[in-house]
Formats: sequence, structure tokens, C-alpha cells
Amino acid sequence: MAKTPATIYVCQNCGNQSRKWQGKCTDCGEWNTYVEEKFRPSAQLVGKSSSAAGARRGTNVFRETKPIAYGEIESQDDARTSSGIDEFDRVLGGGIVPGSLVLIGGSPGIGKSTLVAQVADKLSENDLKVLYVSGEESERQIKMRGERLGLNAENLFLLPETNLDVILTEIERMKPDIIIVDSIQTVFSPNIESAPGSVSQVREVAGQFMMFAKAANVPVFLIGHVTKEGSIAGPKALEHIVDTVLYFEGDRHHNHRIIRATKNRFGAANEIGIFEMTGEGLKPVGNPSEVFLQERPEGASGSVVTVCMEGTRPMLVEIQALVSGTKFGTGRRMAQGFDYNRTSLLIAVLEKRLGFQLAGDDVFVNVAGGLEIDEPAADLGVIAAISSSFRNLQILPEVAVFGEVGLTGEVRGVLQGETRAREAQTLGFKKLILPASNKKGLEKLLGMRVVGVRTLEEALDELF
Ligand code: TYD
Ligand code: MG
Repeated sequence: MAKTPATIYVCQNCGNQSRKWQGKCTDCGEWNTYVEEKFRPSAQLVGKSSSAAGARRGTNVFRETKPIAYGEIESQDDARTSSGIDEFDRVLGGGIVPGSLVLIGGSPGIGKSTLVAQVADKLSENDLKVLYVSGEESERQIKMRGERLGLNAENLFLLPETNLDVILTEIERMKPDIIIVDSIQTVFSPNIESAPGSVSQVREVAGQFMMFAKAANVPVFLIGHVTKEGSIAGPKALEHIVDTVLYFEGDRHHNHRIIRATKNRFGAANEIGIFEMTGEGLKPVGNPSEVFLQERPEGASGSVVTVCMEGTRPMLVEIQALVSGTKFGTGRRMAQGFDYNRTSLLIAVLEKRLGFQLAGDDVFVNVAGGLEIDEPAADLGVIAAISSSFRNLQILPEVAVFGEVGLTGEVRGVLQGETRAREAQTLGFKKLILPASNKKGLEKLLGMRVVGVRTLEEALDELF
């Protein structure tokens, strides 16, 4: 018996549901994000809704389920397929896992379609049949981009379609090895009455692709736009459904694009891949430290190199600070690429523990290259940069620092000290200032002086 569709209001930001319209979401606190959606209650549960479509296609997508002994389950790890792009494999945890559902999120125009087109090309070179479902661009547009990127992609098939049932039928007929859906927000299931892009729709579509991926053991990539307005459901609404969530970071003013795994059922989360957007598409950046240090100013005060970890990979970045007399009563503080509150805290430590008079100064902190750092290991770098600008003294270009700074002005140890130290050594730094507790065993790094410090005073004595 068909139930009459009920009306509910769904927050397009977080998916919270409510019987009444509300101005502010009670769950995530966003304003004006509730949109009326109609649904059949049973269709809401991911997994239930495909019964109609599944029956029509004459298959039960779920195998008959029986408990299986742990020892009898085949190990999958060697079954990964390389995407042909190392940086991309790295964020996936070592390659594409069969039957995985991967969500690639990012703001419009950041390079999602470019990346998947390049991946599709590499896969198709390896004789894998790739189906590229496009709801945004016509096949001619995709071909144009492909020509610009110099792809020949013999085994790539384009399907400009947005109806999920048609897409699934076509998939069943064609049996591709890999599926790309660009974007999830344009695909709709006719079983649900809400508009394409709404939370119920994207969840339904993602749920169906999930079941398909698991049943057919075919990897599926879903592209999702991150949107500012509330009317389109963002990738956040899907994170719990998919196996892996990758986000594209980077801003329009820089050519670097960072892909970060924020969730990965098949590998380390927080792993990143770094690319550069060029005229011929995305180029993997094998050695990011070199790129981020390329434009370092020489002989200027207020600049220092610190070593941070992105996933399992160490990276050298330049931190800059500018301290200048304010035109207003109290100094402003601004931080780009580093947490604002943490910056204020470090400034307070400098004032209280080292007697710096910064109240009458504006303090600006910037992480060069458009990177975002969110680990305390960069504290010492921020302090060093601010002190350097405040005293107008240069920090020698061959010096790198890292370490967490505590409220009493102590320098505390950080994780993976050795990995960081080795990266600094590889890049040719001559002196490394790090927390004393991280120094153990590192004295003998070839060609580099390693100085362990316990307090900020010791650190600044070493720096200047
Ligand atoms: P696109 O992959 O279409 O973005 P998305 O799918 O995330 O919306 O990338 C669009 C941007 O990338 C566009 O502003 C132009 C730029 N671009 C290049 O700089 N070089 C290239 O080779 C290509 C294909 C795009
Ligand atoms: Mg696109």
C-alpha cells in the first residue's frame, strides 16, 4: 500500500528534520536552511528505498546474508587499483579499493572535474572501462576539457544523465570497472519527490550508489559541491554514508590544491595530496616543502620556517609575522592560515613571560602559500616570527623550528619529531631548534645542528 507523502522540513546544511519550519536549525545553528521536502517515510531509510528499483531491475542487490567466518574472508589489500596519479593514491590510502564509495567535495571551480577527468584518463590507459556520469556538463564540454588536458581516454564513456534509474540501468548494461558521478547534487531519484540537490535526494542517490558499489564490487566516485547557500545539500550531509571523504582545499589566488582525506575506511584520515593547477590541468607536487619555500624572502625579519605534519607527511612551511605600531588605541591581531585564538594566546605568552610590549602594536601572522596549519607544533614558529618582526632581527634562512608552546612559556615535545627533523635535513637546513624532549637520538643527523630547548627564552637565545 502506497503511503501518502508526508511533508517535513529538512535542514540543508546538516540534514536535521523538523515537522515545522524554523528560522534557525536547532542542530547545527545555521539560519534559513530549512526546506520543505516530501517523502515516503520508508524511503528515508537508506537501503530500503531501492526495493522498487531493485525489483524492477530483477536483482536483489544485497546478497543473501549469512554469517561468515573471519578466517574465510578474503583479504582485499592487494586488490587496490592504482589511479595512476601518486598523490591521489596517497589520499585514498594506497589506491582505489574495489567496491568503495568515495566522495570528493570542494567549492565550485576548484578543480574536481579536472581531477576526475585526469584520473579517468589514467585508468582508461590501464584498460579499465570508466563511466563518467555528468549532470553538469554536456559530453562536448567534457571533451573540450579533455582536449585541453591532452587526454585520449579510449575507454572512457560519458553519460549526460541525471535520472538515477536510467543511470543504474545503463550501468547494468555497460558493466563499467569504475564509475564517476559529477555531481551528486544533479542526480535525482524519481522515487523521491524532493527537488534534486535536496538532502533527501542526495542521501537517497548516495545510498543507492553505495549498495551498487558493494554488490557489484565496483568503485564509485561521487563529486559534491560545497555550497554557501542553504538550498543545496552539501557533501557534509553524505559523510556518514560513504567510505571515504576527500576535500579539495585551496583558494583562487593560489595555484596549489590540496586534497585531504577527512574520513577513510581504507586508510589514514588526514592524509593529503598536493597538486598545482596549471594550464594543462592538475600537476602532482611530489615535494611540497620545496614549492612552499620557493618564494621565501631573503634577509627579511619576521619570517621563519617550521615543520608541520599533514597526515603522515612532514612539510616545511614559512610563517610570517608583521608587528607594527597601531593607528588605533589597541593593537589588532590577525591570523591567516593559523588559528586566531591560538595566535592571541601566543602573543599573551610573549607579553607575560618574555616582557614583550605588544599592546600598542598590530600583529599580523600569515602562513605563506595559502596553507592552513592546525597543529600546536607550529607554535614555536609563530612565536619566532613575531619576535623576529618585533625586534626587527632576521632569523637565518638555514634555521628551522618546531615545538608546542605552553602557557608558562615552556616548549613542549610534539609527535613525530624525528620525521620532521629528517624533512628539514633533506631540504638542506643547517640548524634545527626543537623541544628538548624531541632531541633524543637526533644529535647525529648528518650536516645539521640540532638544538633542544626547554623554554621560550632558550629558543629566542638560539634564534637571535
Ligand atoms: P573544474 O574542474 O571544472 O572545477 P569543478 O569541477 O571543481 O567545479 O575546474 C575549473 C577551474 O580550473 C577553472 O577555473 C579553470 C581551471 N583550469 C585550469 O586552470 N587548467 C586546466 O587545465 C583546466 C581544465 C581548468
Ligand atoms: Mg565540475
